[in-house]
Amino acid sequence: MTDAFRKAKDPVISVRNLHKWYSGVHALRGVSLDFERNEAVGLVGDNGAGKSTLISILSGLHAPDEGEVLVDGRPVRMKGPRDAMDQGIETIYQYNSMVPSMSIARNLFIGREPLKASFLGLGILDEARMRAESVAAIADVDLHLRSPDAMVGELSGGQRQGVAIARAMHFKSKVLILDEPTNHLSVKETNKVIGFVKSLAAQKVTGIFISHNMHHVFACCDRVVAMAQGRVVLDRRIGETSIEEVHEVL
Ligand SMILES: Nc1ncnc2c1ncn2[C@@H]1O[C@H](COP(=O)(O)OP(=O)(O)O)[C@@H](O)[C@H]1O
Ligand SMILES: [Mg+2]
Repeated sequence: MTDAFRKAKDPVISVRNLHKWYSGVHALRGVSLDFERNEAVGLVGDNGAGKSTLISILSGLHAPDEGEVLVDGRPVRMKGPRDAMDQGIETIYQYNSMVPSMSIARNLFIGREPLKASFLGLGILDEARMRAESVAAIADVDLHLRSPDAMVGELSGGQRQGVAIARAMHFKSKVLILDEPTNHLSVKETNKVIGFVKSLAAQKVTGIFISHNMHHVFACCDRVVAMAQGRVVLDRRIGETSIEEVHEVL
């Protein structure tokens, strides 16, 4: 293999022959895929196709029953979402993992709170740092929120999605997975998410964008992967296929 070829094929995540059963349901039936660096991949398919199951394995929520996941070419066994985050894989769900009764600043740092030493030698939360960094993180994703102290429960769906995105970008994720992020968003907010997915490559982030709206996928992705009944049934560059062709295989 030449160096040039090696460079061209250097996926950030590869999955090999993944199988997953939920008691009687065979939800993934041998899924193999490569996710290249800095590409946005749209993952489509009908309800029950296995999209969320695949994502749950990549985000550390479930272990595959068979097959393996490689990150940067190395096999990994993730035992929870924290392991995925440590690998640089961040997932944003439709109902994302924000705590409504906590501030924007606290939500940005959930699970990664900066500590400063107290006189008893115990770590105490560095509130000033969380506030300052969250103001910067939110500005970086072009989100306009009044204060980092506002409760997440007071934000609109789109704003919450924005905070989740700011969190992923602030912690320099390599891979950002968005599972149906535009459900329940207004047209304006949806366009913002689409614009954001488009901008990921420039920020050197691989995006995996799950949507049942083919127009959204074609508007912001480089590649489309379609799943049906636990299998990959189509995998094409966006420029080499059409919405009609994808619909035909679903
Ligand atoms: N926690 C679960 N327990 C049992 N069956 C599940 C569970 N999650 C998903 N399934 C089943 O697995 C299959 C794939 O579901 P899912 O991955 O959610 O598909 P999608 O996200 O494409 O709609 C479906 O038949 C679904 O009913
Ligand atoms: Mg799903």
